Amino acid sequence: MDRPFLRPTWAEISLPALRANLKRLRSRLPSKTKLLFVVKGDAYGHGALACSRLAQRSGVVDWLGVSSVEEGAALRDAGVRLPILVLGSLYPFESFRAAAFYGLVPTVASLDSARRLEEMMRRIARRSACHIKVETGMGRIGMTPRAALDALGVLSAQREVRVGGVYTHFACAESNRQFTEMQIGRFNRFLAAAAARNLRTGLRHAANSAGALEYPGSRFDMVRPGLAAYGLYEGFEPVLTLKTKIVFIKMVKPGTPIGYGAAFRAKRRTRVATVPIGYADGFSRGLSNKGEALVGGRRCPVVGTVAMDMTMLDVTQAKGARVGDEVVLLGRSGRSEIPAGEVARKLGTIPYEVVCSISGRVPRVCLP
Ligand SMILES: Cc1ncc(COP(=O)(O)O)c(C=O)c1O
Repeated sequence: MDRPFLRPTWAEISLPALRANLKRLRSRLPSKTKLLFVVKGDAYGHGALACSRLAQRSGVVDWLGVSSVEEGAALRDAGVRLPILVLGSLYPFESFRAAAFYGLVPTVASLDSARRLEEMMRRIARRSACHIKVETGMGRIGMTPRAALDALGVLSAQREVRVGGVYTHFACAESNRQFTEMQIGRFNRFLAAAAARNLRTGLRHAANSAGALEYPGSRFDMVRPGLAAYGLYEGFEPVLTLKTKIVFIKMVKPGTPIGYGAAFRAKRRTRVATVPIGYADGFSRGLSNKGEALVGGRRCPVVGTVAMDMTMLDVTQAKGARVGDEVVLLGRSGRSEIPAGEVARKLGTIPYEVVCSISGRVPRVCLP
């Protein structure tokens, strides 16, 4: 028997919205530009399997990007056939064996890992493609352009590993044009140096969502959006809606304390609803006395401290609210919306973290 899903807290994933966003991205790109859809971090909390399957069916996605061999292997085990690039730097180097077994393309981010990949492929008598990561200003993983040229040289002299691509990543495409153009310039100079040495680079790519949409010069052969596909970027439709239901409701007198630490006291007669969502679901404790939820389309403030499994809302303004009513904590309800960006600002973080934090305890329900 399927395990029952009774606790009324769930995240709706609109597959039509995801499809529309991917198509919109596709339509904003030259037809020869390939589209790699980033599904790492369980598709930014949206559910990697459902999102990858939709991407495969959509016919507009050429590649998927994951962060680890484990993430890629889970997609392969579930029958996803699109080419998959592992964006993280693989370690232990033993990971190259599993990557080859699952037909995943690893990132090579150092000269040492280029050699280890070649060694491993020779040892297990297999061949692998790889993409080389070039550091242009992100300061995370990747080789300096000079080391990347050396790695291209080393790999072009053997048969086990084929360089299928070279790429870089932007540090602030959303916020700093000058810096991003500096990164594009460095990457272009690296590509020119590789061409001058007759070194084959395969697919050249650099752009995340902001790069793909705002910097046509950064599109090269492929772009790698995540955020825009999930509708967390201006002009795209949010894919995820975090929902719960009122499970308890009461009227309290002025002065009544609410929740841990009695961090809220009612100033007037207040209708307080309890919803079964808390920080163990990824609804941050930082939203205590700060967050809002939509009840019948009306914004209702979080009152008191967000607990591990429960949160209280002041529903006085949502006339007629009662047990069983649906509550939206993130996303749209009718004409009202609580965007991830708004929640992120309240928490001093970014929308990526807001959606990635929704825990495994929250079932993802795909709307077809
Ligand atoms: C290497 C790499 N490429 C692409 C992306 C997608 O970025 P965005 O979600 O801003 O489009 C990420 C996400 O962090 C990334 O790490």
